[in-house]
Amino acid sequence: MTTSPSFTPASDGIDPRQVPFKTLASGAKIPVIGLGTFGSDHVTGQQIADAVLDAARLGYRHFDCASVYGNEHLIGHSFRKMIDGGVPREDLWITSKLWNDKHAEKDVIASCKKSLEDLQLDYLDLYLIHWPFPNYHPPGCAPDYHNPDATSYVHESYMKTWRQMEKLHAMGLVRHIGTSNMTIPKLDLLLRDAKIKPACNEMELHPHFQQPELFQYVADHDIVPIGYSPIGSPGRPERDRTTEDTVDVEDPVIVKIAQRLNVHPASVCLKWAIQRGQLPIPFSVNCKNYLSNLKAVISEPLTPQDMQAIAKIDRNCRLIKGQVFLWKEDQTWEALWDLDGKITPA
Ligand SMILES: NC(=O)c1ccc[n+]([C@@H]2O[C@H](COP(=O)([O-])OP(=O)(O)OC[C@H]3O[C@@H](n4cnc5c(N)ncnc54)[C@H](OP(=O)(O)O)[C@@H]3O)[C@@H](O)[C@H]2O)c1
Repeated sequence: MTTSPSFTPASDGIDPRQVPFKTLASGAKIPVIGLGTFGSDHVTGQQIADAVLDAARLGYRHFDCASVYGNEHLIGHSFRKMIDGGVPREDLWITSKLWNDKHAEKDVIASCKKSLEDLQLDYLDLYLIHWPFPNYHPPGCAPDYHNPDATSYVHESYMKTWRQMEKLHAMGLVRHIGTSNMTIPKLDLLLRDAKIKPACNEMELHPHFQQPELFQYVADHDIVPIGYSPIGSPGRPERDRTTEDTVDVEDPVIVKIAQRLNVHPASVCLKWAIQRGQLPIPFSVNCKNYLSNLKAVISEPLTPQDMQAIAKIDRNCRLIKGQVFLWKEDQTWEALWDLDGKITPA
C-alpha cells in the first residue's frame, strides 16, 4: 500500500482485514464496528476529526457521521488524508444523515451534496433520515425546548422525503439509504410504500436497552440494525440525562464478565452487540479507548452463558428520549416511540 506522510498505519493497530463484516441485502459488506462522531456538546470537532484519522490508522474503516454533529467539514480532511494516503475508498464505510430541518423535497438532495462536499467524498455508503420528525430544534437547546411549528409523524411527508432519498440512490450519490429512530408501525408503512427498502436502521441499543421487538422486526425484514450509544453513552449531554437512567458499564453482570476476561466493561457491551447481530458505533476521542473497542471485536468472544445472562439485564432504559421533538406542550417523550404499537396521532 502506498502511504503519504499524512496516513501511516499504526504499528499497535489491527489489520482492518481482521475486523469481521456483515453483508447487507445488497451484498455490500459493512465492518461490524464503526466510530461514532457525535461530540455530545463537549468534545470539539477538531478532536473528533483527529480521532477519526487516528482510528483509521489503528484499523477502523467504518465511520458514523451526521450533518447535525457540525463537524463534517473537519472530518472531511481526515477522509482526504486517508484516501490520498492510500486507503482505497471502497475499503471505507461512511454513513451520514439528513437532519430534521431538511426533510422538505427541495432540501434533501442539496443537504446530501453539502455533506459530500464537507466530507470530501463522491458518494456515501449509507445515508439515513436521522429522525422521522421534521421538527427543528437549535443545537444544544434546553430539554424542555418546544418548537411551536413541530408536527407529529406524517407518513405522506416522510414518503416525500424518502422519494428524494431514493433519487439520491439513483443518482449514485449514496450506495444505501436507511432510517434512524423509527418504530415498528412507522417501518410497516415505509416498507409498504418504499421502492427502495431501508438497508439499515440506526437505533439505540445497549444491554440496558435491548429493544427486542424492534431488533427482531428489522432482522426479519433484512434490515441491518446499527446500534447507537452501545456503551450506554456515559458522556451524553446533560439534557439527555434523567434520574431514572441506569448505567450499563456498572451493571454487576457486565462487570463480572469484564473481570473474568480482564477487559473494560465497555468491551463486554461491544462483544455482546456484535454477537447478538447489531453493529455498534461507539464514540471516543481517547486513543486507548477506541483501540480497546476495536480489539473487543476480535478478541475472546462471550460464551453462550454470558449472552444469556446479558439478555436478562435489559432494563428498557431509553437514554436518548428525544423530548425536543414533541409537538404538544403537555406530551411526554413516550409519545415519540409509539409504545402501544400504533403511530401516536397528531
Ligand atoms: N442516530 C442517532 O440518532 C444517534 C443518536 C446518538 C448517537 N448516535 C451515534 O452513536 C455514536 C455513539 O453514541 P454515544 O456517543 O451516545 O454513546 P457511546 O458510544 O455508548 O458512549 C460514548 C462515551 O463512552 C466513552 N467510552 C468509549 N469507549 C470507552 C472505553 N473503552 N472505556 C471507557 N469509556 C469509553 C467515551 O468517552 P472517551 O471519549 O473519553 O473515550 C464517550 O464519553 C455517536 O457518536 C453517534 O455517531 C446516533
